[in-house]
Amino acid sequence: MEITSAEFVISNTDVKKCPAGIFPEYAFIGRSNVGKSSLINMLTNRKGLAMTSATPGKTMLINHFFINKNWYLVDLPGYGYARRGQKGKDQIRTIIEDYILEREQMTNLFVLIDSRLEPQKIDLEFMEWLGENGIPFSIIFTKADKLKGGRLKMNINAYLRELSKQWEELPPHFISSSEDRLGRTDILNYIENINKN
Ligand code: GTP
Ligand code: MG
Repeated sequence: MEITSAEFVISNTDVKKCPAGIFPEYAFIGRSNVGKSSLINMLTNRKGLAMTSATPGKTMLINHFFINKNWYLVDLPGYGYARRGQKGKDQIRTIIEDYILEREQMTNLFVLIDSRLEPQKIDLEFMEWLGENGIPFSIIFTKADKLKGGRLKMNINAYLRELSKQWEELPPHFISSSEDRLGRTDILNYIENINKN
């Protein structure tokens, strides 16, 4: 799929203020700093569309980007950023959970996982919560450029092994690098196929 237009529409903390209409949307979630905003820029070929930062906790709001005038990409705040303090973490958690549970247009959630790390409890628990609530999701292993091929494969297999303890059927997964533009075609094709059905 070609991206012919990508426009920022609105930032929110309130799911009720998200754009009206029936266009399908695809949201990106994961721990702070995992690369959600960078991935949106890579997919859309627009460097400064979503705000990125080397410091975790950059995205604090629900951000809607209108793509090809018929679907949305949604950038969400990261979870689990300790330096925000408990109150801050709880606020972000509420924004994320309300969006995920209440946003009917949300067609698929991409859960981003840092491919350099061992399976993290916070991610596994989050995906368990998605399962309990019947939320459709897929996984994207990010920052693949930071690892050598063998190590990358090992980490991803370890993750999938851990997930198979939790899930009878594994969700679809992708490998990405926003530096090398890895995964772009696969992720866009996946979205295109869902949009068609
Ligand atoms: P929050 O909004 O804080 O939750 O973070 P985020 O998940 O949106 O992460 P963001 O896209 O802002 O990226 C965080 C840092 O990781 C930035 O310094 C990016 O340049 C870097 N980064 C993101 N993706 C990649 C990648 O694929 N490869 C490499 N090498 N760096 C990446
Ligand atoms: Mg961000």
